[in-house]
Amino acid sequence: MNTFEKDSTYIAHIYSRYPVCFVSGKGSHLYDDKGKEYIDLGSGIGVDIFGIADEKWMEAVTKQLHTLNHVSNLFYSKPMADLAEMICKKTGMKKVFFSNSGAEANECAIKGARKYSNDKYGNGRNTIVTLINSFHGRTMATLTATGQDVFHHDFDPFLPGFLYTPANDLPAFIELCEKHPEICAVMVETIQGEGGVHPLEKEFFEGINKYAHEHDILLIVDEVQSGNGRTGKLYGYMNYDVQPDIVSTAKGIGGGLPLGATFFNEKTENVYTPGSHGSTFGGNPIACAGAISIYQRLDDKLMAEVTEKGNFIKKSLEGAKGVKSVAGMGLMLGIEPEKPVGTIIPKLLEKGVVVLTAKEKIRLLPALNIPMEDLEKAVGIIKSVLAED
Ligand SMILES: Cc1ncc(COP(=O)(O)O)c(C=O)c1O
Repeated sequence: MNTFEKDSTYIAHIYSRYPVCFVSGKGSHLYDDKGKEYIDLGSGIGVDIFGIADEKWMEAVTKQLHTLNHVSNLFYSKPMADLAEMICKKTGMKKVFFSNSGAEANECAIKGARKYSNDKYGNGRNTIVTLINSFHGRTMATLTATGQDVFHHDFDPFLPGFLYTPANDLPAFIELCEKHPEICAVMVETIQGEGGVHPLEKEFFEGINKYAHEHDILLIVDEVQSGNGRTGKLYGYMNYDVQPDIVSTAKGIGGGLPLGATFFNEKTENVYTPGSHGSTFGGNPIACAGAISIYQRLDDKLMAEVTEKGNFIKKSLEGAKGVKSVAGMGLMLGIEPEKPVGTIIPKLLEKGVVVLTAKEKIRLLPALNIPMEDLEKAVGIIKSVLAED
């Protein structure tokens, strides 16, 4: 059996895959099993933030692999401590918990918010508000937190203690909070990624930030997709005047190895106590060593380049033939085509360009260091495919 046949025989039918099997890559280039080359504008859904087989990341990972591959969280580990220090110094947050994925980072944020409120106010003030059209993960809690009806079937019962409010409607959020004194936290993505690449409006995000802080409702920001330099700032929320109490991230921070992280500010840093949460693999030394090599490079110069490249894509595609709209920030962009997105992706693959989708849009999450000539070439191909009659 070839890989396609083995996959359909032995892998649970959870993913609808494109008929391509990648076997290698370098930077923003991918190669399939027939030797065809592609320009990668998806970076494994925002994971390979310095591209495939990034030299510095590989060096850090292999060095750690040959030194100490795993040690349990019963003991101290230098890469984990060094990475946490780096995160806190760069963000101003106070403490970090490491896990292995975005869903786990959010699970930790949700549990942490409930514990904060239980510790301070006693039982009963434990409801989390999330936004309609959000996406927060696939565990039972994060699936419940995900504000999309399409996910809320088949797995009943979902968790109690979640309420949903529309994005960019501040009065609706405030009304919900006034009606429900049991609300302890609000959780938002800076840019709804899976929901179709919708950045939060400034007035709304800053408004919920203000209301939440005045009412001791914790502000949790899910930066799983929008974090780690993706928007042209270290974290997406840094494009706004907001102060999260808890931040979750994953994807790009690990650069290709599973790593999730939840950051706590001065209000929430001591919410977790020994034994109240944990993870066997969380903060694995190899994943953390790789993440350090990534975090070191998320500097102002790179952020300026991300913004510039994002602006280039926007300028090239806004108003172009076959394009309804372009939304997003930095290198997290959604292009709304006039034709159904499902008809466009196979054409792009055929022409050697890998993109993602989000609802009705083409979603671009290229490597942050994608060379300009690759970007120009790929955007040119997208433009020509979208312009086809
Ligand atoms: C905003 C957001 N939160 C959480 C998740 C879940 O992350 P993971 O698939 O690593 O569990 C995702 C994944 O796409 C995401 O985009």
